[in-house]
Amino acid sequence: MTELETLEERSLADITAASDLDTLEGVRVGTLGKKGTVSAQMKQLGGMDAEQRKVMGPALNGLKNRVGDAIASRHEELKRAAIEARLVSERVDVTLPVQAGPQERGRIHPITQVMDEITAIFADMGFAVAEGPDIETDYYNFTALNFPEGHPAREMHDTFFFNPDENGERRVLRTHTSPVQIRTMEKQQPPIRIVIPGKTYRQDSDATHSAMFHQLEGLVIDKTANIANLKWTLQEFCRTFFEVDDVNMRFRPSFFPFTEPSLEVDIQCDRSGAEVKFGEGDDWMEILGSGMVHPNVLRAGGLDPDEYQGFAWGIGIDRIAMLKYGMPDLRPFFEADQRWIDHYGFRPLDMPTLFGGLSA
Ligand code: DAH
Repeated sequence: MTELETLEERSLADITAASDLDTLEGVRVGTLGKKGTVSAQMKQLGGMDAEQRKVMGPALNGLKNRVGDAIASRHEELKRAAIEARLVSERVDVTLPVQAGPQERGRIHPITQVMDEITAIFADMGFAVAEGPDIETDYYNFTALNFPEGHPAREMHDTFFFNPDENGERRVLRTHTSPVQIRTMEKQQPPIRIVIPGKTYRQDSDATHSAMFHQLEGLVIDKTANIANLKWTLQEFCRTFFEVDDVNMRFRPSFFPFTEPSLEVDIQCDRSGAEVKFGEGDDWMEILGSGMVHPNVLRAGGLDPDEYQGFAWGIGIDRIAMLKYGMPDLRPFFEADQRWIDHYGFRPLDMPTLFGGLSA
C-alpha cells in the first residue's frame, strides 16, 4: 500500500470513528488543516519535478477531495443525530393534562357567590350597596331601631355583649344588618334604595344556626314607597334568585320593633323529595322578615315620618344559599374544608350577572 493510500485509509477511518462534531472537527484540522497530514503532502508538490507532479497532483487532489467529502457527509450525519437526540431529550408529551392555574383551581365560597348573586339582582333594580361595622353600639343595634330599654326583643337576639367601656357603654356584635338602615338615613337624603350584605352574630349554633352568619338587609325610603312595592320587589327577587319562572309567596303578619306593619314571608316549595324545590309543591318555607319602616325608626334616622315612608326587609343569606344549592348542613360553611369548597364552590371568573346567568 502506498503512503497516500495508507494516509487515506487512516483519515477515512478517523472520520467514520468520530462520534461527535467536536471530534470530527479535530480530524478535519488534523488532515485538511494548515498543519494537517493531507496539507503536508500537498506542500511537497512544490518540490517535485514536472513528471512527478503530473502523477502526484491529481492523486493528492483526489485524496483531498475524498477526505473533504467524507468529512462533509459525516458532519451532516452527526448534525442530524444531534438534532434527533435533542428532540428526544426535549420531548413534550402533549397528551398530558394541562396543570390548572390558581385562577382555575381556586373556588369562590358559596356565601360570596350568593352575595354576588343577590347584589347583581338588586343592582339591576337600581339599588346601591351599603355597609356598616360588625361591632355596633347598643344605640344603633337596638335603641334607634325602636327596641325600648328592657324590651324582651333585646334578649331574643342572643346578643354577644362586650364589657362596658369607661362610660359604661356596652358595645355589641351586631345581631342583624338593620343598624345600617339608621347609619344610611343619617348620611343620605331620600330617595334611598340600598341593600346591606354583611356578617351578623348571635349566641346560637347547631346544624342550621351558627354564631356568625350573614344577612342581607334591604331599605327603600321615599315619599310613596308602599307594601305593594315591597311585595313586587321581593317577588321579583325570589323569582330571579331561585331561577324559576314564578314563585308563590305568602305574607304573614308578624312583629318586629322596627316595622309597622311587619310581615314574614314564606315561599311555596315541595319538600317531598331529597331536595327542596321552589315554585311548586304544597309546603311553605319562611325566608325573610319585612315591613313598613316604623315612624320611630325614620325619626331616629333624622327623617320626618309625615314626609317620608319606606319598607325594609332582612333575609338570611346562609339560609337561602343552603336552599338554592341543596346543602343540608350550615356548619361546613365555616370549616374551611377544601373538599367541601371544591364540591360546593364556584369558579372564580364566573361572575354572576343577570344577562350572563346567575349561577351558570
Ligand atoms: N333584623 C331582623 C332579624 O334579624 C330581620 C328583619 C326583619 C329586617 C324585618 C328588616 C325587617 O329590615 O323589616 O331578624
